[in-house]
Amino acid sequence: MSRNPESLAGVADVNLSGRTAVVTGATSGIGRETALALARLGADLVVHGRVAAAGERVVAAAEDVGADAAFLSADFADPVAVDGFADAVRAHTPTVDLLVNAAGAHFSDGRLVDCGADRAERTFAVNHLAPFRLTRRLRDVVADDGRVVVVASRLHRRADGSFDVRSVDGYDGFAAYCRSKLANVLFADAAAERLDGPAVASCHPGFVPGSGLWREASLPVRVAVGALAALPNVLTPGVVDTAAEAAATPTWLAASQRQAAIHPGGGYFVDCEPAEPSDVARDDAVREDLWALSESLTGLSW
Ligand SMILES: NC(=O)c1ccc[n+]([C@@H]2O[C@H](COP(=O)([O-])OP(=O)(O)OC[C@H]3O[C@@H](n4cnc5c(N)ncnc54)[C@H](OP(=O)(O)O)[C@@H]3O)[C@@H](O)[C@H]2O)c1
Repeated sequence: MSRNPESLAGVADVNLSGRTAVVTGATSGIGRETALALARLGADLVVHGRVAAAGERVVAAAEDVGADAAFLSADFADPVAVDGFADAVRAHTPTVDLLVNAAGAHFSDGRLVDCGADRAERTFAVNHLAPFRLTRRLRDVVADDGRVVVVASRLHRRADGSFDVRSVDGYDGFAAYCRSKLANVLFADAAAERLDGPAVASCHPGFVPGSGLWREASLPVRVAVGALAALPNVLTPGVVDTAAEAAATPTWLAASQRQAAIHPGGGYFVDCEPAEPSDVARDDAVREDLWALSESLTGLSW
């Protein structure tokens, strides 16, 4: 069987012609593979990232399969850049049918960055506040029958639901990453309640130790994922995924027939199926507190 995401997800026969997909973090890894899968299914693409050369290579690959594709750059650690990216998307296309929030990072050093109305720790800002901001800025152009996909992680389970992100005292990069991924799961459900029309969902895509995600992680984390990435696939069945394999669930959430796949009320998915997130990810009070915090830090109300 082909190992491309659309085949693995069972959506290779879906026709996305006439649909426009915006995929953040599409210059490498899981976002890149998701973007190219959607292009092969017929969607036109906005490819987001920071590295222009990598973005242009994805655009060229998408054009090779007949997609209309454009690269738009923005640093998600900068809210002004996120707003500029949203404006550029709106200038490029009147409608966003599929918004896949895949951009993400893991930082070993703690740094506070501007979030629009206040400052917060950078992992939280890039991984959560940027998709919060972008989705808010694009909400009126996301199609009523569209999809918003948030690429989270099963590592959200390691987070306890406290979001002390205004300080970097005692910063721990791995804990900050897990916290940001819990925010992704909570955000998808909270946005689903607030967006009339488009379906919203989060997912764990898989474990890809060979992706660029870990390049700014601490030395122990880099050593551990580097060792796993170096092992032959036969020694790591079901543990390690390629980026294409990990793109299957985001591709499925974006492309599958609506009723057969995601329901409008949010949800968390693993291996192209609904899955149970952690207890804290289902806690209404934690979800609403995170929402209030996100509005306060960004200065954006929904
Ligand atoms: N790898 C895994 O095992 C794994 C597991 C579970 C979940 N995930 C999630 O999957 C998503 C994709 O990760 P990946 O493994 O594919 O990593 P990756 O190969 O490093 O890709 C990350 C993407 O995010 C973009 N990005 C990073 N920092 C950015 C910033 N400050 N501003 C704008 N764009 C930025 C990168 O763009 P540029 O390089 O152009 O800046 C790149 O396109 C992330 O949300 C991650 O949390 C990954």
